[in-house]
Amino acid sequence: MASDRPTLARADANDLERIINVSNQDVDEVLHAVEDNADALFTWDYEKGARPALNKLYEKAKNAQWNGETDLDWSIDVDPARIFAMELQTMTSAGPIKAMMEMDDSPFKGFGEKEWEKLALESLNWRMSQFLHGEQGALLCTAKIVETVPWVDAKYYAATQVMDEARHVEVFAKYLDTKLDGFYPINAHLKMLLDDIITDSRWDMTYLGMQIMVEGLALAAFGFMYHMAQEPLLKQLLRYVMSDEARHVAFGVLSLKEYYAELTDAELRERQEFAFEAAVRMRDRFMQQEVWDRLGVDKRKILEISLAMPPDQMIFQQMLFSKIVPNCKKLGLLDASGGWLRKRFEEIGVIQFEDWVDTGEEYLEFDAVAQDRAAAAKETAAS
Ligand SMILES: [Fe+2]
Ligand SMILES: [Fe+2]
Repeated sequence: MASDRPTLARADANDLERIINVSNQDVDEVLHAVEDNADALFTWDYEKGARPALNKLYEKAKNAQWNGETDLDWSIDVDPARIFAMELQTMTSAGPIKAMMEMDDSPFKGFGEKEWEKLALESLNWRMSQFLHGEQGALLCTAKIVETVPWVDAKYYAATQVMDEARHVEVFAKYLDTKLDGFYPINAHLKMLLDDIITDSRWDMTYLGMQIMVEGLALAAFGFMYHMAQEPLLKQLLRYVMSDEARHVAFGVLSLKEYYAELTDAELRERQEFAFEAAVRMRDRFMQQEVWDRLGVDKRKILEISLAMPPDQMIFQQMLFSKIVPNCKKLGLLDASGGWLRKRFEEIGVIQFEDWVDTGEEYLEFDAVAQDRAAAAKETAAS
């Protein structure tokens, strides 16, 4: 319900009641409608390549298409036990869960091997389900960008991203359906964020919310999971998806860099507030309230402890911002309006990423399709 929504740039990002009292009310519905409030723009300026960086990205995207049915080896027999062993190791080696395990009144008191395995498996199902819903959000947002962005080079590129996102929805849905056993509806915080991104009438807000914030976080999360994963099909899937995502984030950075250079400080402040609210909602979503509910663990206690934890102990949560912060800096969003966003990122303990590599060009290193084609050609030439 709209009236339950936290306002943008809420005063206290750590307000526990606001976080815990948000829940998804229509989990049994198949469809969810959102007003998208925007003008569809025709442009009669068909000059291709007027924005060379976007044109280069578009040419790259046309050659980097892959097929989710045939380029991934779905015959691989997935053993969820192997994946959740990795999940459990990650959860219990650092961060809030490890700290809570060591407390006298731990919310995990009485947990034996069976309970830990269940937690790891549910967390995996939950995370893959949220990736799936986020991918659908990207599909709808990018279709909207095709309509609303005024530049033809950007419309062309966005059209390739629509295809990419359809493929991502398809492969995550297939993995969840055929290789795992468990599905979660969309997390309420993620749902509010996607709704707000789509509802906003300004074309750049779709990019800022999706390409910079949601996809910036996804790229970091996929990278983390890729390095940890030992299950070969999941590893393959993530490598191919990341290769597309790196382009998508670059698309956001390259487009908004030009547009934000012309905005006033007051207009930039609105973008800063939007970006920060998105960051807080993404942090809230990773608290996986639905998993605690399903397991019957004391959710309030877990959230309380997590919110009170010093930022440098939230290693995984912090790493999720390793792409977002440098990209916001590149767009001029950290220091506009008296450094408003810089201060907020300091408060949530993620400013240390500001000088990490931004994603404007990084996509060239992620190009899994080109790398695999070159390796296959080499093999053919050698035989
Ligand atoms: Fe995607
Ligand atoms: Fe994407």
